[in-house]
Amino acid sequence: MPSSLPDGEPAPADGRVPDAALATLPQRRLGVYVHVPFCRVRCGYCDFNTYTATELGGGASQLAYADTAIREVDLLAGALGSAPPVETVFFGGGTPTLLPADDLVRVLDAVRDRFGLAPGAEVTTEANPDSVSPEGLAALREGGFTRVSFGMQSAVPSVLAVLDRTHDPERVPQAVAWARAAGFEQLSLDLIYGTPGESLEDWRRSLDAALSCEPDHVSAYSLIVEDGTALARQVRSGVLPMPDEDDLADKYLLADEVLGDGGLGWYEVSNWARDAEARCRHNELYWTSQNWLGVGPGAHAHVGGVRWWNVKHPTAYAARLAAGESPAHAREVLDEETRRVERVLLEVRLRDGLPLALVDRSRADRVVGTGLANLVGDRLVLTLRGRLLADAVVRDLLG
Ligand SMILES: C[S@@+](CC[C@H](N)C(=O)[O-])C[C@H]1O[C@@H](n2cnc3c(N)ncnc32)[C@H](O)[C@@H]1O
Ligand code: SF4
Repeated sequence: MPSSLPDGEPAPADGRVPDAALATLPQRRLGVYVHVPFCRVRCGYCDFNTYTATELGGGASQLAYADTAIREVDLLAGALGSAPPVETVFFGGGTPTLLPADDLVRVLDAVRDRFGLAPGAEVTTEANPDSVSPEGLAALREGGFTRVSFGMQSAVPSVLAVLDRTHDPERVPQAVAWARAAGFEQLSLDLIYGTPGESLEDWRRSLDAALSCEPDHVSAYSLIVEDGTALARQVRSGVLPMPDEDDLADKYLLADEVLGDGGLGWYEVSNWARDAEARCRHNELYWTSQNWLGVGPGAHAHVGGVRWWNVKHPTAYAARLAAGESPAHAREVLDEETRRVERVLLEVRLRDGLPLALVDRSRADRVVGTGLANLVGDRLVLTLRGRLLADAVVRDLLG
């Protein structure tokens, strides 16, 4: 979750959601995102809404965080009234696993208690390989978590060093083994490609190392140079080169080949899974414009075309909840055209494809004619070359 927030109209202090949006609750899947805004150190490339102890300056306490988040869960349950059971919960960050496992389980318990969890609900936590232990993972599994997504990024020490990552490459297979021993059946690894100085062979080494952990799922994103980060300053001053587009394309192709040979198939441009069971159902909920609630500073929510987002800083967030007020900062009601454009942007990236009804047919035919997509029934599905050029395809489709 990038840290900059859009503008919007002020959100009501009591967290009320318009009736027309609430009416969509029974028709769509419901998920909950819980943001944990703490990291031990900040990685030089990362622009997420997260804070180290020094950056927080003692204003908001990690110790009190679970109780504050539970207060927001209560408030959301009151604002939504009757809602269907939650199908997916995703703890992201920051580094959720910096909090004691018991705190994460208490927040999950509150979600279960106030909303109910659907049978077979997916409950994920992101984890930094440096901040997990066998005991902590066992407590999470015991408490109802079903999936862990580890921030691996690379297996090559020199690449990890450029990314400011603190973990030793050996730590990843160890953390994965602990998670398996704790009973987690769904494990995912996040990788980053295109780090300055990373060769194609380095990237192959990272992919092979990821596969040797036998993950059920891999996300691989190209390194984005975000404004305001230490990485951006290093690129601007010429200390590091900007990631090169051709190099990124070669690395995407290699990822698809190596992960495919390893039994993982793409289901979204940057995500590969062992089978349909192993897909990240929470992210699928975002990509198909379902309903979700956001808990935590800066967290976004979407219910029936109304999107709102919380105040960004943990101190302001805690203060709002302590005063019995919603931490929602602003909201926007999406009009039909904005919703269509967002659906095109997200759904064209899915292997299940984009419904043709969302775009002008002649534009879709033109994209097919250039070999960037195929028609599969009434859907448009990107080819491998199309996946490399997904942004250009979106421009062609929307004009
Ligand atoms: C919240 S972090 C995952 C958990 C934990 N904080 C960690 O880093 O190990 C989410 C993921 O976002 C990705 N990410 C963050 N900033 C990025 C950037 N500038 N470019 C590409 N990927 C980025 C990383 O792959 C990271 O694993
Ligand atoms: S540990 Fe994860 S969330 Fe924290 S700064 Fe690094 S990439 Fe960002």
